[in-house]
Amino acid sequence: MEVIFTQDLIRIYKTNTGIIKRKSKLISALDGINLSVNRGELFGLLGPNGAGKTTMTRILSTVLLPTSGVAQVFGMDVVKEAREIRPRIGIVFGGDRGLYWRLSGRDNLEYFATLYAIPKEKAGKRIQELLEQVGLADRANERVEGYSRGMKQRLHIARGLIHDPELLFLDEPTIGLDPVAAREQRQVISDLKNAGKTIFLTSHYMFEIDALCDRVAILHKGKIIIMDTPSSLKDLVADLEVVEIECFGVTSDSIEKLRRHPAVVAVNVVSREKTQLVQIQAPVGTKLVQEFLNLLNDVQIKQVITRQPTLEDAYVKLVSEDSTKA
Ligand SMILES: Nc1ncnc2c1ncn2[C@@H]1O[C@H](COP(=O)(O)OP(=O)(O)OP(=O)(O)O)[C@@H](O)[C@H]1O
Ligand SMILES: [Mg+2]
Repeated sequence: MEVIFTQDLIRIYKTNTGIIKRKSKLISALDGINLSVNRGELFGLLGPNGAGKTTMTRILSTVLLPTSGVAQVFGMDVVKEAREIRPRIGIVFGGDRGLYWRLSGRDNLEYFATLYAIPKEKAGKRIQELLEQVGLADRANERVEGYSRGMKQRLHIARGLIHDPELLFLDEPTIGLDPVAAREQRQVISDLKNAGKTIFLTSHYMFEIDALCDRVAILHKGKIIIMDTPSSLKDLVADLEVVEIECFGVTSDSIEKLRRHPAVVAVNVVSREKTQLVQIQAPVGTKLVQEFLNLLNDVQIKQVITRQPTLEDAYVKLVSEDSTKA
């Protein structure tokens, strides 16, 4: 059964620009989204900053109204039947807000349990279970202000689960976490899926989606450019290899030259502290490293490697194809 269903979903924001001469401007954050998520599925919505991920999560979790189109959760309309939907969903937005820092982790959960009108005799047991589930049981009686970011983030998840929702929305649940805390967080998420929850997750980390999700939709400029399993997405780049050139001071001119090379499928530039990493996708076995280096003859090269493509490269390829279409 479908837990989430949308058809031609559109959300337009109206903003004002300019201080003296106010002009209003329309921003199309979601531009006709069609998707469905099945019961028990861990569904990932992936996209760069500003793609519309939070907008989508907010509409589905009934806290933001769509401009037009259909959005249903458990077969109910997110606008007309929001009241019926709310008790059955949990929402966890990334960041630090929404917790009481002067209270302990356990007290925070007790507070939210009261908000959801969970009877006291039930709440104590439920809270203990949740604290164990998110790995906070041994720190539960300490004030939240002394928690690390990862601990706060896990307490947020426990809070989102307090009323035992069937469907959980997680908007960038690992943002700002160090690699160890992020890995722990992913474990918590994967345990939730194994416990039978349906999860709608957003991220801009491809590897995270790859590690966790049953299916992924890639959102780019308010549109879904592909929706499939992580392994089918990887098939898109299976016959490619990636040449990575780390260099100093690469210019947009040389990147353009690389893009125009007939064998090149996609080019992506990652800025690092002092260098840039130029990632070039080309068919496997084309042995074009020397040609690529010749096109970069005016920049200083630090190192060059050739590697197999990852899901991240599939994402780069799709987004770059979509950008050239536009
Ligand atoms: N309240 C608002 N008023 C005006 N424009 C908005 C508002 N909220 C979002 N937008 C715009 O809508 C688009 C989508 O934003 P959204 O926050 O949904 O993207 P996102 O994918 O969650 O991005 P990020 O990865 O940065 O969190 C962006 O262009 C954003 O500037
Ligand atoms: Mg967002």
